[in-house]
Amino acid sequence: MSKKLYIETLGCAMNERDSEHMIAELREKEDYTLTSSMEEADLILINTCSVREKPVHKLFSELGYFNKVKKDDAKIGVCGCTASHLGEEIIKRAPYVSFVLGARNVSKITEVLHKPKAVETDINYDESLYAFSDFRSSPYKAYINISIGCDKSCTFCIVPKTRGEEISIPTDLILQEAQKAVNSGAKEVFLLGQNVNNYGRRFSGKHPKTNFTELLRKVSEIEGLKRIRFTSPHPFHMDDEFLKEFAANDKICKSMHMPLQSGSTKVLKDMKRGYTKEWFLNRVEKLRSFVPDVGISTDIIVAFPGESEEDFEDTLDVMRKVRFNQIFSFKYSPRPLTEAAEFTNTVDEETASRRLTTLQKLHNDIVDEKNKELLGKTYEVYFEELKEGYFVAGRSDNNTIIKVKGSEELLGEFKKVKITHTGRTIMTGEIVE
Ligand code: SAH
Ligand code: F3S
Repeated sequence: MSKKLYIETLGCAMNERDSEHMIAELREKEDYTLTSSMEEADLILINTCSVREKPVHKLFSELGYFNKVKKDDAKIGVCGCTASHLGEEIIKRAPYVSFVLGARNVSKITEVLHKPKAVETDINYDESLYAFSDFRSSPYKAYINISIGCDKSCTFCIVPKTRGEEISIPTDLILQEAQKAVNSGAKEVFLLGQNVNNYGRRFSGKHPKTNFTELLRKVSEIEGLKRIRFTSPHPFHMDDEFLKEFAANDKICKSMHMPLQSGSTKVLKDMKRGYTKEWFLNRVEKLRSFVPDVGISTDIIVAFPGESEEDFEDTLDVMRKVRFNQIFSFKYSPRPLTEAAEFTNTVDEETASRRLTTLQKLHNDIVDEKNKELLGKTYEVYFEELKEGYFVAGRSDNNTIIKVKGSEELLGEFKKVKITHTGRTIMTGEIVE
């Protein structure tokens, strides 16, 4: 009988893909199958995130729980960014953990499985050429890594310390992965990296230079592939060439993640983001001049050390000017190994909470107003997910989530849908053809 794997994935899309890689390796090489029951698992994996402090705190209570409910001989493995960051400290604090596997060491999963108390956390381990076995959690869309690590040094961010320096995956390998995904039925690929539009900056070994714009062009030539999405691009690298390709290439979905972080040029400088408020607004304007209906999402941090009321007003000002479709907003959380953790001019907790609430309220007002304008509009929707009450949901190419009455037969299909009812995060519609 095959062994059972229970896996919990926290954090970003890159972690989702790393989990798929580990599932694939364990399935192919160790005969594991997935289970949703922790109690019957032979191996419990937790793929962690360390971008903010809270999930890291929660990790140890969660591990304690795993230890309590697991089968006697079941193993527990801690993977991902917190594994990279805390390493053997995890086993010191939770001695029942069988192994610790860093975010940059996923390919060693079948090795550490057989090495009691193994700690593999080399943050510059080169996995860019490793051919992982194949597993995808969705048959409709395929995550594909295009780079690993990050070469930026945003002062708030721990990622370069957990995922190491940036290495691009050779173009040929990406194209092969995309082709494989399309052959097995996926019509959408999601290209992943911490800084995707810096693609091609460094390869491991000799590989033909390709930049992100050229990569997009090549991926779009794959027959049968209908949609390309990617995350995360960096506003600093959004040159005109990239924006033009984004606009002109029909297969590229017209939805762009533009992580602003702050609207204040002073704070952006302290964050070492490499752009100003004006550059960001200029890029949005340029993008909208090419693609008026583009969906724009962003990440914002409030209460970064030294953020004054005036700085925060600048963030609100950018929000009012851009009118983002979606925001991911966070209170600044000091992270070890980062420059900003040494900054002393911190913002008090009450102010931080107030700013986050103000920001989120403004965003909700903006999307409620924007979404009302969607009533009666028609979009092409790619259906991917069943929803309660006999609904099926999918996304328009500008990333509006729309559900219609229906069931399995719509999954993996493209349909033109007219919006009949609007909401804050999901619209309801009717298929028109
Ligand atoms: N390269 C990725 C960043 C990954 S971290 C990207 O550009 O999307 C994801 C988001 O978490 C960041 O964009 C930032 O908004 C937030 N974040 C990172 N470090 C943080 C910190 N120390 N405190 C609060 N939020 C943080
Ligand atoms: Fe982090 Fe900045 Fe890279 S947010 S992942 S250091 S682009």
